[in-house]
Amino acid sequence: MDKEEGEKMTTLRTTVVFLLGFYTFCQETRASVQGASVPGASVPGASVLGRPLLYGPSTALEKTVEEFQCEVLRYPKEESILYQLFREGDRSKALGFYSALSGEMANFPLYITASYEGYMVCVASVQNNTVIQPTVSQRHHLRVVDPVNGAEVVVQSGSVEFYEGKPLSLRCNIAKGTHVSYQWLVDGKPLPLSPSHNQTQEQLFIYRMVPQDSGEYTCVATNQLNITKVYSSRSTAKVIKVKELVSEPDLLFLVLKERDGTYFALVTCQSLKGTPPITFSLYSRSEFISTETVDERFATFSIPVVLDLHMGFLQCQAQNGDRVVYGQWTAMHVVAVGGAVTMHYNTDVGENFSIVGLRFYCSVERGTFPQYRWFLNGTVLEGRGEFYWVENQPEQSILLLSVGRSSAGTYHCEVSDSFDGTTVIRSEARYIDKEVLNHLPTTVVAVVFGCFLFLVTLVTTCCFIGLLYQKRQCLVEKSTLDLKLGLEMHNIMVSDDDEEFLGRQCIMDEEEYMEDDGVVRAARIVDSDQEEVESTDEWLQLL
Ligand SMILES: *[C@@H]1O[C@H](CO)[C@@H](O)[C@H](O)[C@H]1NC(C)=O
Ligand SMILES: *[C@@H]1O[C@H](CO)[C@@H](O)[C@H](O)[C@H]1NC(C)=O
Ligand SMILES: *[C@@H]1O[C@H](CO)[C@@H](O)[C@H](O)[C@H]1NC(C)=O
Ligand SMILES: *[C@@H]1O[C@H](CO)[C@@H](O)[C@H](O)[C@H]1NC(C)=O
Repeated sequence: MDKEEGEKMTTLRTTVVFLLGFYTFCQETRASVQGASVPGASVPGASVLGRPLLYGPSTALEKTVEEFQCEVLRYPKEESILYQLFREGDRSKALGFYSALSGEMANFPLYITASYEGYMVCVASVQNNTVIQPTVSQRHHLRVVDPVNGAEVVVQSGSVEFYEGKPLSLRCNIAKGTHVSYQWLVDGKPLPLSPSHNQTQEQLFIYRMVPQDSGEYTCVATNQLNITKVYSSRSTAKVIKVKELVSEPDLLFLVLKERDGTYFALVTCQSLKGTPPITFSLYSRSEFISTETVDERFATFSIPVVLDLHMGFLQCQAQNGDRVVYGQWTAMHVVAVGGAVTMHYNTDVGENFSIVGLRFYCSVERGTFPQYRWFLNGTVLEGRGEFYWVENQPEQSILLLSVGRSSAGTYHCEVSDSFDGTTVIRSEARYIDKEVLNHLPTTVVAVVFGCFLFLVTLVTTCCFIGLLYQKRQCLVEKSTLDLKLGLEMHNIMVSDDDEEFLGRQCIMDEEEYMEDDGVVRAARIVDSDQEEVESTDEWLQLL
């Protein structure tokens, strides 16, 4: 048998199968149409069987007994009818049989198992009569519910404690249950809506965990038989901890003095964020100095210091998880206080132009850690008093005063190193009271009056100059106008036929140039002749 013949046979077989199928289909359709066309009537002597009707619950609990009914409304008299219940598409094994005479309704008590899930059909046939074709009911769907139980959270991504940025994958496993839906809770509340959260059925996936995602994760598995009968199972909580990565550390230091007179710096590396333990390290350029792993967000290192010497740059490093972050390079240069200490003030003026408040400023020329002290009549003023308030800033110290009887006296400030009180630099002293402040010094009066006089003179002079200048400008402007008019007139006259004139002039210039060239050469020859003549004359003169 060659290939072509084989193909023909296949086509033939297909056609036969198709025709057989079509015949069967026609038979069933005819039966059902006849059954449906005269409902509720048994036709005596009819040799056809109506289409069976299948009744029963659409939802059933597993391991319970449920009843299904099947009946035909058109059936042949005096014939025993066999009803069979099948799963759709599987006629090999009947779920139940029922033999009925004279239009009795078939009853199928079924012990429900998970395998009954799906569609079922009822087939009716007349027993011992192969002439009458069996008929099939419409399919009936059954949902088999097994109450959910034993929900449990499984962390598929592995660890329950990890650093931010990692994904989390959870799964809600159940011991049993069908048609289950799942809900996730964090600390007893539904999951926040977020594009990084993805929930599909029993799975929960979070792409990038942040510290705020930490919490107790619970899943609730639910299924229901009908509106009133709902089963649910809640898992125990799974604690997920998302650790924060450490942020760039800042470097701060302060200087202290040892008993033997040497100095050392306490260098603090400090991060604002990060879950401990954190490992802090201190570097000086490429050189490693020290490292420490701490249960806080800072670590302190002690290094020796020489005053007024640039000791290079320091840098803090911080590490937790698999992240290492670096701080800024900071110069290690501690300068002792030195130079002049200056004290100046400015005033606050009240409603009636009298001075009611005063701000003294004290600053020192140099010094990394200056400490300021204020004195009134030789007594230290600290913090906040009845009439004053001290505010220390890194570059200066401010003493705020309310001017009154108690604030009268002699003020001065002193600066020393915060780590060493041996060097003290004093500012000049200054006596202040209400009268001194409100009394205008004669120099000020003189200066103000002088300024006023000068201004008056200046304004007067300006007025005079202004008047004179205005007159002259009138003349100047008129002559400028005349000149402008004249120019414009000239332009109008010239622009009448200037194009042709200009073109001709151009050509003429070139010819003239050519001629000139010849003339110049000729002239040169003449010149040289003349020179020869002249030189001969000179010779003659010399002789
Ligand atoms: C059908 O035939 C079987 C034997 O083939 C017999 O046992 C049975 O009684 C018959 N039933 C009816 C209803 O005629
Ligand atoms: C739901 O099912 C239960 C158990 O089978 C039954 O007792 C109840 O009446 C049903 N309720 C509704 C509204 O169908
Ligand atoms: C100016 O006003 C203040 C209150 O603002 C008052 O204490 C003071 O006596 C007044 N001075 C004069 C000169 O009127
Ligand atoms: C400070 O001394 C002056 C005299 O030099 C005196 O008038 C003033 O009341 C004193 N001030 C205080 C607060 O003791």
